[in-house]
This record gives sequence, structure tokens and C-alpha cells, in this order.
Amino acid sequence: MTTPKRYLVTSALPYANGLKHVGHLAGAYIPADIYVRYLRARKRDVVFVCGSDEHGTAIPIQATREGTTPQAIIDKYHAAMKQDFEDLDMSFDIYHRTSDPLHHETAQEFFTYLNDRQELEVKETEQYFDESANTFLADRYIKGTCPNCGSDRAFGDQCENCGRTLSPDELINPVSTLSGKAPIKKKTSHWYLPLGKHEAFLREWILQDHKDDWRATVIGQCKSWIDGGLQSRAVTRDLDWGIKVPLKDAAGKVLYVWFDAPIGYISATKQWAIDHEKDWKPYWYDKDTQLVHFVGKDNIVFHCIIFPVMLKLHGNILPANVPANEFLNLEGDKMSTSRNWKLDMRDYINDFVKKENGGGQCVDMLRYYLTQIAPETKDSEFMWKGFQDAVNSELVSIFGNFVNRSWVLMHKLCGGKVPVFHHQLLDDNDQVLIKEIETSKVKIENLIEQYKFREALYEVIDLSRKGNQYMQKKEPWILAKNLNDHAQALIDNCLHVCLQLCANLAILINPFLPNTARTMTKMMKVVDKMLDWENAGKLKLLSVGYSLREPQLLFRKIEDAEITEQVEKLKANAQSPQTTQPMEAPTPQHSMISPEIQFDDFAKIDLRTGIITAAEKVEKADKLLQLEVDLGFEKRTIVSGIALHYSPETLVGRQVTVVANLAPRKMRGIISQGMILMAEDAAGKLHFINPENTIAPGSKVS
Ligand code: MF3
Ligand code: ZN
Repeated sequence: MTTPKRYLVTSALPYANGLKHVGHLAGAYIPADIYVRYLRARKRDVVFVCGSDEHGTAIPIQATREGTTPQAIIDKYHAAMKQDFEDLDMSFDIYHRTSDPLHHETAQEFFTYLNDRQELEVKETEQYFDESANTFLADRYIKGTCPNCGSDRAFGDQCENCGRTLSPDELINPVSTLSGKAPIKKKTSHWYLPLGKHEAFLREWILQDHKDDWRATVIGQCKSWIDGGLQSRAVTRDLDWGIKVPLKDAAGKVLYVWFDAPIGYISATKQWAIDHEKDWKPYWYDKDTQLVHFVGKDNIVFHCIIFPVMLKLHGNILPANVPANEFLNLEGDKMSTSRNWKLDMRDYINDFVKKENGGGQCVDMLRYYLTQIAPETKDSEFMWKGFQDAVNSELVSIFGNFVNRSWVLMHKLCGGKVPVFHHQLLDDNDQVLIKEIETSKVKIENLIEQYKFREALYEVIDLSRKGNQYMQKKEPWILAKNLNDHAQALIDNCLHVCLQLCANLAILINPFLPNTARTMTKMMKVVDKMLDWENAGKLKLLSVGYSLREPQLLFRKIEDAEITEQVEKLKANAQSPQTTQPMEAPTPQHSMISPEIQFDDFAKIDLRTGIITAAEKVEKADKLLQLEVDLGFEKRTIVSGIALHYSPETLVGRQVTVVANLAPRKMRGIISQGMILMAEDAAGKLHFINPENTIAPGSKVS
């Protein structure tokens, strides 16, 4: 196998509509990060891109749920996800976002390129339409029963229960998620990608060329898609949130989110190149680039069938592999946002990483467990008890213990320096272990190159286990009891080998547990360069006589109480899932507290009491009411997202609190001059915040 000239590695762009859980982390992020860290250690040219997926119906739906704008939603979750990934040491070269103008341009150019070459078809069809909301029901605006698994919570684009990609027409008993009513059908024109034309190409490229190097689960899904008949896929939608279709006769139409999002990998690469004064083109056009997409199984068809067809038509390279993972369950049940059965990355960060100084240890413990249980070939299960066992009986008792013993004994019996190796005393045990170090390195790199991260990590731990066994056979502590020159020489040999093995372990563990590797380089007083992959497999890493630091604890134990607490927390959260909108995933129990502000920041907000003097529904928007509010000194028009909670007739005469100096904002064509303060209860119902007694409108609130 020849080494490619360069690599472009992608992790699925997460939707900016909520926090992501550890299932996502295990599926598309940690494996990619391991792969990339390994490639970097091998000095390969690699760019690792990711970013937020900020279009599609998921975003405006979340905005409605949180009573805010789509822009506010993407800003909030883009920042939150970026931070969470940083806290968990994902080493993206760039974390971009699809709302960036560079991405809009890139996606529009892509569409135009295909359209100009007649690779897209325009078709007029009948699409579901909500008469009361006066809008077409794209993707998640429509739900119904899944034709595949029978779940009654399937959306127009996908069933969250079984992961199957759907089109609205496949739903049984479709209803609008806006009004809860059955939709009608209405004519509309859209651009389609005729996948059927590319069947021969897909069959050959996937089912023949890649039948041996792609995962069986991935090939299986592709095959059933192709065998099921490749339908033309609409690449545009009737929506107002998204990238405008760059054509004159396409008002009100945007690119389908799954058309634009993967192009996000390209725009992210472009932005990275701008930032680093590099050329992005070879990464997407040169055949000697290895493109690898890390995704979860629900993303397979997009990355293996639809996007590759787009790439081929656009003249780009195709992915070399799409090592998709299956799903991760949690404590005996599917992870689910709507049932609040999940472990968010943010929760782990707060409960473990941020709780102690050695946060890096906790990051590595999670990375370890999630890699050990990675659903590479089938669904797998996160169990808190399993996490505790993995940490306590593998990281602490095997790996950590070996490194710690080596260090302690070296300080005690060898004066804190790397002892010399007396070749004349080389025995079978030494030879076997030295050979193991050499072969393990090769095994691990082969496994990583085949995307078998679970097994690769197992080999690393196994090598440290062998180190423990070796030490157990040599028993330097026994030799120390009858110290003479010969005994000292045997001790020296043992610890020399153990320390060199530790140095090797630092290199081999580095792609998986980077914090651990860094702590080990500190203990060894060596620079990061020592972690270059080519240094592994040999016994020459540490020079004889070099003095090493005191040992540091690599991993702490996980106590029973911590596990019990987490399991209880999980169960408690699940017992009170929110029921705001039964068809949608609810928001978490308590929204995150916003970053701290200074008093001056608060003082900028001018809050006033007001009286509602008129209220009416906003056309085409079932959540919005247009209110007229008397502030004493003037009357304001305010558009408020409370229509599902209050009918207009009940509002006139009510006292409310208004943000009076908010910049005016256009909503559904109406200029809204302020905002009404509302509190949301656990059931998602909104309540007015108003003075205890009615007071003069315009009174200042602070
Ligand atoms: N946002 C999608 C999801 O969470 C993934 C998009 S991957 C990309 O399922 F290729 F489109 F970027
Ligand atoms: Zn289903």
C-alpha cells in the first residue's frame, strides 16, 4: 500500500440545534481524532475539518421551541459545541460553520456548476403543505409513522428511532408539526439530483472497488439503498432558512441542508487554507489525497451515495473510506434527547473534567472508555459501571500501575536515572518483551490504518500488561534485598527495559489519550517530538544516565459514589422529560446558565412595564402574535412568540415587562420594537413576568 501524499479527514458537522451527547462523540469525533493524531505523529500531511451544520428545519424548529430566532440558536449552539469539543481535546484544524458567507458562496457555486451542466432536473411535484400555517412542510416540519420500524415519531427526512432516511411521502399518517393537522398537497417546483443515472458508477465504486476495505455495515447499507432503486433526490426546499438557490426564478427556495452541509467540508478546508496561507485545492482535487469521512450510521447514505455523486459531478475526489459507526446505547436503552436519556458531553465536562485540576485525566478516561466500547461493528452500550471498570481495572491497575512502578523503582533503586543495560545479561524474558514492543507498534499502526481503533487501543494496554508481567518475573524489589553488583546489574536491566517500554507506551497511547502522553513526556523530561511515531518500536528512546522527574499519577480511581450519582441523575432526568411539544425533542430540564456579565452589561438593558392594548395573530406564523403595548410615553408594536400559549382576546389590558431598548427586528414582515419577558416552566408553558400590582406603564424595572 503506497502512502497517500496528503489526507483530508472530516467529522460529521453537528447540527447547531442543541448540545451533543457522548454517542455522537464516540461515533464521529473521537475515532477521527485518533486517526488524525496518529497521522500527525507519522508526519503525514493531514487537515482535519469540522464545523457546525446551521441550516435545515432543525434550526428554526429549535428557535421556536426556545422562543428566539434561528440566528440566536446557531450562535448559541455553535459556540457551545465548539467549546465542548475543545474541552474534550478534539484537535480539529478548523471548526467552521455553514452560516459563514464563504460557505454560502461555495455551496451556491457547487449548485450552479451542476445546474449549468444539466446534471440537475427541475420537476414540479405535489408537496405537503400546512394550510393553517400557509407553508410547505419540509423535512422536520412533517412527522408520521416510520414505514421501516413503525415508530410514530419519524420525521419527513429521517426516522430518529431506526435511523432510516425518509422522504415525506413515505410517512404513514403524516401530520404537520406546526399545527398538528393533516397536511394537504400543493404543487411546487424543485431541483433534483437524479441518482438513478449514477447507479452503474455507484455499484462499481462501492460494491466492487470497496467491498473489502469498507466496513461491512457500510457496504450493507449502501447495497440495500442501491438495490432498493435510486430515486432522484430533491436538493432544494421551500423554506426561508438556508442558502438561497442562486437562480432568478427561485424566490423562497433554499438548498436542501444535506446538499449544502457536506460542502461545508470544502468551505472549511478553504477557510483553513486562507488562515494558514495554504492551497486548499489539492485536498479536494488531487487523486493522491486520501479523503476520509467519520460519521454515525444515520449519515451513511449521504456520505457514501449522495455526496460522492455530487463530488464526482463537480470534478472532485471521492472518499477513500467512510468508517461509519453504529449507535451507542446508554444503561440499557437507546440514547434519546426527547426522553432525556443521554449523557451530554457538557455534563461529563462539568461533572468530571472541570471538577478537578487534572481535568486532562478525565478527558482521557472518557476517550478511553468510548474507544473501548466504540460501536465499530454493531451497536454498543455505555454503562457507568463499565466506565468505572475500564478506568479502575485497566487504566489505573494496568497501564498507570506499570508506569508508576517503573518510575518509583527507578527512583528507589537506580538513583532517579535511566540505568544502563548490561548486554551480557540479556535473557529470554528481555528478548521476548523487546520483540513485543517491536511487533506491537506494527500491529497498532496496521489496526489504526484499518480504522480498528478498539483493537488498536487494546494492543496498547496489552503491551503495558506485558510490561507488568515482565516486572513480576524479574522482581527487582526482591533483588534489592540482597544487593550486590550482580543484583544491581539485573535491576538495571529490568528497569532499563521498563522505562524504554514506558517511553514507547507514551508514543503508542498518544493518538488515543493525548493528555496521558503529555504527562508522560513531562515525567521523562523530553520534548513532544519524542512522540513521533517513528520513534516507537525501539529501545533507544531514553539515554542512559538521563535523570527523570518524580512520577505523576496518570489516572485516578472512579469511586462507587460517582457512578451511583450519575446513574441516579440519569434516571431522575428521564422521569421528568419535557412535554413542550410532544412531537419534538424537548429542551433540557434547565437551560445552561449564560456566561457571567458585569453590572454595566445588565444596566444597558432598559426594562419597562407596559400594558397590552391590542393583540392579533400574525399571518402564516402560528406561534406569533402581534401586540400593541402602551409604554406610557409611547405605543409599540411587538411581535411575540406566545400564540400557542395565549389567545389574543385574553391579552388586552394585561400588564407586561418589556425590553424597551432592544434594536427593532423584522419578523414576518412586521417591525417588532421590543420584547416581552416570559418565563418558561418545566412543561414548556410560557408565563408573563409582571409586577405584583398594576402600576403605571413605562415604570422602570431593574
Ligand atoms: N448535521 C448532520 C447530523 O447531525 C450531519 C451533517 S454531516 C455533513 O446528522 F456532511 F453534512 F456535514
Ligand atoms: Zn424507523
